Amino acid sequence: MSGARIGVFDSGVGGLTVLAALRRRLPTAQLLYVADSAHAPYGERSNDYVLARSRALTRFLLAEGAQAVVVACNTATALAIETLRRDWPDVPFVGIEPAVKPALADSASVAVLATPATLASARFGALLAAHGGARAPRLQPCPGLADAIEREGAHAPRTRELVAELCTPLRGCTRIVLGCTHYPLVADAIRAALGAVELLDPADAVAEQTARVTSVLGAAAPGPALRCWSSGDMRRLQRVAHDCGLGDVAAEPLPSGAPQPPAPQ
Ligand code: DGL
Repeated sequence: MSGARIGVFDSGVGGLTVLAALRRRLPTAQLLYVADSAHAPYGERSNDYVLARSRALTRFLLAEGAQAVVVACNTATALAIETLRRDWPDVPFVGIEPAVKPALADSASVAVLATPATLASARFGALLAAHGGARAPRLQPCPGLADAIEREGAHAPRTRELVAELCTPLRGCTRIVLGCTHYPLVADAIRAALGAVELLDPADAVAEQTARVTSVLGAAAPGPALRCWSSGDMRRLQRVAHDCGLGDVAAEPLPSGAPQPPAPQ
């Protein structure tokens, strides 16, 4: 069983949905989580901005001893993971992307909810070209949704109203791809808007892939089972972690001048 130290980051609290899956699949791993809430929403920022933040958070996690990094953010995966892999060729990176392939495996009527940046990315275009074939899913960009979840909370009336609005054009779809790690937090509101739809969240598949990738790494020096940092609201992180089944987590402010690991090659 993996005793590896695994770094995980997202633009905010959304990646906690992935962290919970990692905790279930890798109970003995040391997990380090960064919520970059002060810089969310990544899905409405420029490619350069998301890449710069992804590099800074990767540097921080590696300086904290991470042996592998999970990019628990569809947007950062789409815009930055290839560059991170080039920058740190010896570090295993695991990303997350909308579950388009399984979604289109049969004749269900499919919609993809994701950030504007994810849907506009070349990586998503290639994913769709590879698996979409003749069957194009409905693509629903969700500007404001990750931000509302960050600032108002997943259960706030304004967040639920926004979900209802974004889901209105999707009536009749029977399968919804959750293409942003914040969206499982509003699964109830999506079901309230669309009825008994199937929601596809790839978090367990990411945890499985992380288990595969980290199984060859040696155990890390002893350390806490979980450490969390946020560049934003610590209490929000703790509340969402609790809702995700992670229990009572301690949260620390993300240092702004994080120590640097050796320069990437
Ligand atoms: N949770 C992120 C994702 O999976 C990004 C949300 C955002 O900050 O826009 O895409």
